[in-house]
Amino acid sequence: MNIGIIGTGYVGLVTGACFAAKDNTVVCMDSATDKIDTLQRGVIPFSEPELATLVQSNIAQNRLTFTTSLPSVVRHAEILFIAAGTPASLDRAADMSSIDNIIAQLAHIGDMGQKVIVMKSTVPMGTTYKISQQLRHDYVASNPEFLREGRAVHDFFAPDRIVIGADNPSVATTLARLYAPFLEGDAQLFQVSILSAELSKYAANAMLAVRISFANELAHLCEAYGASFAEVKAVMGSDMRIGHQFLSCGIGYGGSCFPKDMHAIIHLARAVEQEMSICSAAQRVNDRQIDRFVHRIRNYFADGLKNKRIAVWGVAFKPGTDDTRSSPSVAIMRQLLDEKAMVVAHDPVAFAHSSGDPITQHITVATSAYDACVDADALLIHTEWDEYRDMDMARVRNMMRRPVIFDGRNLYREKSTALDGFDYFCIGEPIAAECSHTASREPT
Ligand code: UDX
Repeated sequence: MNIGIIGTGYVGLVTGACFAAKDNTVVCMDSATDKIDTLQRGVIPFSEPELATLVQSNIAQNRLTFTTSLPSVVRHAEILFIAAGTPASLDRAADMSSIDNIIAQLAHIGDMGQKVIVMKSTVPMGTTYKISQQLRHDYVASNPEFLREGRAVHDFFAPDRIVIGADNPSVATTLARLYAPFLEGDAQLFQVSILSAELSKYAANAMLAVRISFANELAHLCEAYGASFAEVKAVMGSDMRIGHQFLSCGIGYGGSCFPKDMHAIIHLARAVEQEMSICSAAQRVNDRQIDRFVHRIRNYFADGLKNKRIAVWGVAFKPGTDDTRSSPSVAIMRQLLDEKAMVVAHDPVAFAHSSGDPITQHITVATSAYDACVDADALLIHTEWDEYRDMDMARVRNMMRRPVIFDGRNLYREKSTALDGFDYFCIGEPIAAECSHTASREPT
């Protein structure tokens, strides 16, 4: 089929490349000229496993092209996906300006005939109907994505589910045909109403975020009573109704989706005089994770954080990506900088692109995880990259001025021999007697 994708961000590019790989002819459009120039050369402006190879091979086979022209992508497409970003706006509702702008331009182009217009972005309930009205066009659908950064290509080819929200049966049939090659594994196809499709994306992300916050709050209860979160989680997760996933405690969730979608669903509830109180609480818990972690570090030093040299392992919001958007690591570093600490951070990929987080102007970027630790007064582990799991910790200890680790991802929780000579603090485990001398009440 002839596919058009408007927006070549994370979702748009993965969607376009994966459809092209299944013998569709795909044109991806973006208004950013420099981005399109880069993509035409097969260069991906962010880090995502498998994506560059997929893009390059489909360009070579003439199944994937790029343009800055909206009329030309519209002309090409039988199915037109809108995959523009919907970040949190100042009032924390979804910022719809990019989508509004695209729709205004589409309205200008005129009659879309029987082209199917598909909303791929995460949008407030009712958006797809609104677009249908604005364009006076009945062939619309909502088709939310559930791609995880770092596994997006894998998730696209082997999804848990595909959701097609369409009220027009011919639209639903067209999209089911397009997705048929992706349904060969265990994936389920859900053909639902447009509003259900839109809401299901927010619901899925909110549920996962709530689980993480539940785990984080429980971890503190474990610490307070001297129980082990890891043990409690193993017992709890073995219940088939609960399961083990998204129950890892740590410094909280980040990224481009959970924080903004939590804000959005709370906002959407208020707009219809409802409340998502559990989501509000989960968000508070997530913010507090940062404060508790910094409090623990601050408390360790009798003379405060000023001029302390703090090594940080991991800046991306999770391993497998260079994305630092709403990364807990960045929030923690900001607080440390506010207290006049000196931060030396390492991340295997987060600093690779020039569009890196503005925080890089205020910290020192280390070229290796070991280098970050030279003369450090503390080591903080913020992202559970594999390369941090098997470091030579004796070497790290010898490099540091003061051998103390605050492990925000519990990477070394079970490696007690590697921790000889360190003061070690992780999350959700009883605090060892020799490390607890400075412990005090934490923020609630
Ligand atoms: C998420 C959803 O998983 C995906 O389906 C949706 O389409 C986009 O948002 P992503 O943002 O890539 O994907 O990250 P995810 O793997 O879900 O992790 C989100 C955050 O939660 C990360 O910061 C991660 O470190 C944190 N997390 C995850 C935990 O703190 N504990 C866990 O147990 C799991």
